[in-house]
Amino acid sequence: MINLSGLEVRESVVEKLKKQVSGFVSVPKLVIIQIGNDERSTVYINQKKKFGERIGLPVIVHNFDTSVSEDELLVSIDQYNGDKTVGGVIVQMPIPQNLNRRKILDAIHFEKDVDGLGSRQSGLFYCREKSAIMPATARGVLMLFDYYKIPLEGKDVCIVGRSGLVGRPLMQACLSRNATVTICHSKTRSLKEKTKNADILIVAIGKAGFINSDYVSKGQVVIDVGINSSGPPDKKLRGDVDADSVKGIVSALSPVPGGVGPLTVTALFQNVVEAWRQNDMV
Ligand SMILES: NC(=O)c1ccc[n+]([C@@H]2O[C@H](COP(=O)([O-])OP(=O)(O)OC[C@H]3O[C@@H](n4cnc5c(N)ncnc54)[C@H](OP(=O)(O)O)[C@@H]3O)[C@@H](O)[C@H]2O)c1
Repeated sequence: MINLSGLEVRESVVEKLKKQVSGFVSVPKLVIIQIGNDERSTVYINQKKKFGERIGLPVIVHNFDTSVSEDELLVSIDQYNGDKTVGGVIVQMPIPQNLNRRKILDAIHFEKDVDGLGSRQSGLFYCREKSAIMPATARGVLMLFDYYKIPLEGKDVCIVGRSGLVGRPLMQACLSRNATVTICHSKTRSLKEKTKNADILIVAIGKAGFINSDYVSKGQVVIDVGINSSGPPDKKLRGDVDADSVKGIVSALSPVPGGVGPLTVTALFQNVVEAWRQNDMV
C-alpha cells in the first residue's frame, strides 16, 4: 500500500513558495482572526504561523474574547480589508454559536478571502471561474493527487461528508478534474455499497476510525481528511479511516497525521501568494 504522505508533498512545494514570497516587492501579511481559545484551533493557528515563518510570510493572529460582538468583529475585518499590507484574512473556525458565521465570512473583502469561504469567492468557485480561490483542504487533496500522479478523469470518486468547508469544495474540485462524483452524508442509504464502488474514496466526516474494511474494496485509493483527537491523556490524532483494518485491501492511503493536514496549511499559503499576485499587489 502506498503511503500518500502530505509531508513529502509539502516539502516539494515549499522552496517555490519561499521564492515567490522573496520576489515580492512588499510581502503580504496573513491575518487570522481567532475568537476564544479553542485548543484545536490554537494548534492549527500555530501550524499556520510556523509555515508562514518558513516561507517568510508574516502571520498576524488577532484574538478576540468569546464575548466579542458581531459589530466589533465587522469593524476589525473592515480595517484589515482596507490595510494595503494585508494580503489575506481568515476566520479560524469554530466560532461561538451566537455569531452569524455567514455575515462574518462575507465581511472579508473577496480579494482577501484566501480561505475561499465567503459567498462571493464561493460563487466564483462553484461557477468555475478560473480566478476563484479554492478552499484550502480541497486544494490540498488535489496536490496529493498531482504529486502521486493519481488521475481523476473518468474515475468514480465517492466523497463521504458534505460540509461547506470540506465535502462540497472537494466535490467541485474533483468534478473540475472530470471525475464522476458521488457525495454521501449522514442520511445516505447503503453507504457501504457506494463507498466500495468508487475508484477513489475521500472521507471527511469527523468520526475516528469509522471507515473500516467493510467500506473499501481492492485497489482503491483512500484519502482520509478526518482529524479527530483521542482526547487526554495521549491526545493522539486519528483519521476517519481505520488504517489497520483497510491496509491489506486498498492500494493507497493518506495517513493521519501527516496526510491532508499539512497540505491544507500549504494550500492556504498558496492561496495568499496567488491572491497577492492576482490583485497586482506584488
Ligand atoms: N485535514 C484537514 O486539513 C482538515 C480540514 C478541515 C476539516 N478536517 C476534518 O475533517 C472532518 C470533517 O470536517 P467537516 O468540517 O467537514 O465536518 P462537519 O461539518 O461536521 O461535516 C461532517 C460531514 O460528515 C457527514 N457524516 C457524519 N456522520 C456520518 C455518517 N455516519 N455517515 C455518513 N456521513 C456522515 C455529515 O453529514 P450531514 O451533512 O448529513 O450532517 C457531514 O456532511 C473532521 O474530522 C475535521 O476535523 C480536516
